[in-house]
Amino acid sequence: MDFFETVNNRKSARVFQDRKLDPKLLLKLLETLNRAPSAGGLQAYRVFVVRTMKTREDLVIACMEQDCVARAPAVLVFCADKMQSEARYAERGYELYAIQDATIAAAYCQLAATALGLSSVWVGGFDPLEVSRILKLGEHEVPVAVIPIGYPAETPERTPRKDLKEIVKEI
Ligand SMILES: Cc1cc2nc3c(=O)[nH]c(=O)nc-3n(C[C@H](O)[C@H](O)[C@H](O)COP(=O)(O)O)c2cc1C
Repeated sequence: MDFFETVNNRKSARVFQDRKLDPKLLLKLLETLNRAPSAGGLQAYRVFVVRTMKTREDLVIACMEQDCVARAPAVLVFCADKMQSEARYAERGYELYAIQDATIAAAYCQLAATALGLSSVWVGGFDPLEVSRILKLGEHEVPVAVIPIGYPAETPERTPRKDLKEIVKEI
């Protein structure tokens, strides 16, 4: 699958096969997201890999009962480390760069999943305090995205996009 096919094939999937994730594929995902750009190369984030059923079920509750989180064999939670970026970039690092670092890594991860024949969904609807409690995050760490990943059990519909004219403005 070339890059453009990967981008076109990525669709949010919320149903997964009941099958453990091949550790080699998980490693490839992690190596790929680790190639994402970050402000000053700081990589001001941590990625939590959650595979135990108990913690996945706890995350379902934190994610407003979205049960796709427990249905996937692995859930990756991307957490921005705001203090790490603040140390170099002051307020801009704290408020923006750490969040962007984590976000870009999560986007790379979703594309890598597609390229590996896996499916995923970006879950942003969660209680950040509850996710922080489950993952025992530090005071300056913020969960940015919860991404269940597994083998596809459905072929999701392609979702529409705005016309380019609506989002692009040449000035
Ligand atoms: C920031 C963000 C938050 C999202 N939160 C959720 C969510 O909580 N639950 C969910 O099922 N999908 C969530 N999604 C997935 C979107 O609904 C989905 O990406 C969008 O409808 C486009 O569909 P596609 O991913 O299949 O192209 C989220 C996506 C993003 C980028």
